[in-house]
Amino acid sequence: VQKINVSLTQDNYSLLIGQNIFNQFREEIDNLNLYKNLVIIIDENVAKFHMSKIRQFFSSLGKKINYYFLKPSEAIKSYRGLNNIYSFMLEKGYGRDTLVIAIGGGVTGDLVGFAAATFMRGVQLVHVPTTLLAAVDSSIGGKTGINFQKKKNMIGSFYQPKTVVMDIDFFKTLPKREITSGIGEVIKYGFLADSDFFDFLKKNINQIYSFEPNIIEKIVVTSAGIKTSVVSSDEKEFGARKILNLGHTFAHGLESEFNFKIKHGEAVIAGCISALFLSAELGLLNRDYLEEYLSLPLKIKLPNRFKNFNINNVIEIMKHDKKNRDGKIKFVLPVSIGNILIDIEAEKNVIASSIKKMIESISY
Ligand SMILES: NC(=O)c1ccc[n+]([C@@H]2O[C@H](COP(=O)([O-])OP(=O)(O)OC[C@H]3O[C@@H](n4cnc5c(N)ncnc54)[C@H](O)[C@@H]3O)[C@@H](O)[C@H]2O)c1
Repeated sequence: VQKINVSLTQDNYSLLIGQNIFNQFREEIDNLNLYKNLVIIIDENVAKFHMSKIRQFFSSLGKKINYYFLKPSEAIKSYRGLNNIYSFMLEKGYGRDTLVIAIGGGVTGDLVGFAAATFMRGVQLVHVPTTLLAAVDSSIGGKTGINFQKKKNMIGSFYQPKTVVMDIDFFKTLPKREITSGIGEVIKYGFLADSDFFDFLKKNINQIYSFEPNIIEKIVVTSAGIKTSVVSSDEKEFGARKILNLGHTFAHGLESEFNFKIKHGEAVIAGCISALFLSAELGLLNRDYLEEYLSLPLKIKLPNRFKNFNINNVIEIMKHDKKNRDGKIKFVLPVSIGNILIDIEAEKNVIASSIKKMIESISY
């Protein structure tokens, strides 16, 4: 098992990463002296494949244990989803001395995290991310929340878990598109750190699909390490944390234009490709590097629908992104690996031509 220490102003905890590491999890629960009144909230699809392992593990651990199953979708990241969890916990007689364990992808983590942050002004929380995306991204950094009036992640809080247990064994049962979705964020990290990791990804990224445990473990450890160090330097997203949005301005526009029928990570891959073209068009990224940098995201196949959409609509949506100021679209753009600029503006025609080049270059 590998441990990454997350050290924040008020919280200090570890990410545990490895294959079949539930036993280390037991040690961690003992070491941290966590409450033994457990509410275990599990994504239904995870339960379908992994419930016997989960039940076996927790049955010998808690004083009081109740399981709550979630049918994950963006719709459940809602006031109603939250209400159901609060009601369940009250009905079962839980108080402040509760440990809530969220086992699932980002939807589960965001919703359950916010429930734990707010139930009786906050109870203990542990994340067990079961998607690649949740492991490398959503379970790190403490953002929790729900959607509101069709707007994503409108209501929420920063709430840190006591520990995060990333057992990569869960990823074996992920559908292929969910793996691609996680790969989108991994590719983004490929540009944020150093050329060793970039080269490693270029060589090995497709082996995630065939579940090579050592490759996956290295990729998760490095990605989680990058996110952790960025988050530690800027807990509440005042500045430095913005580099994590590489590819995301385009991605949010694409997701909206496709009515969220594409996966977030697929959109991030297309977004990273567009960002590389834009950076080159603006003269920030040296054209000599462009092809080399593109070669990583271009390794991943995207659905056919990326061939055909309305570029102007995407740009209009991007203008209304909640991260913008004064109606100007702000981009995060790479100059080189590890050297990322934030808050870069561009003319509409240049943005459009970058998107067009992305459409022409991706593999389907
Ligand atoms: N808090 C943050 O910082 C942050 C960051 C990025 C994304 N997010 C949020 O994360 C959410 C997306 O997360 P996600 O991509 O993990 O989606 P998800 O939670 O919906 O999971 C994707 C699908 O995979 C299934 N699944 C999960 N684990 C499985 C397993 N081991 N085997 C088989 N199937 C499994 C789920 O049931 C679901 O159908 C979005 O709501 C997004 O807003 C939050």
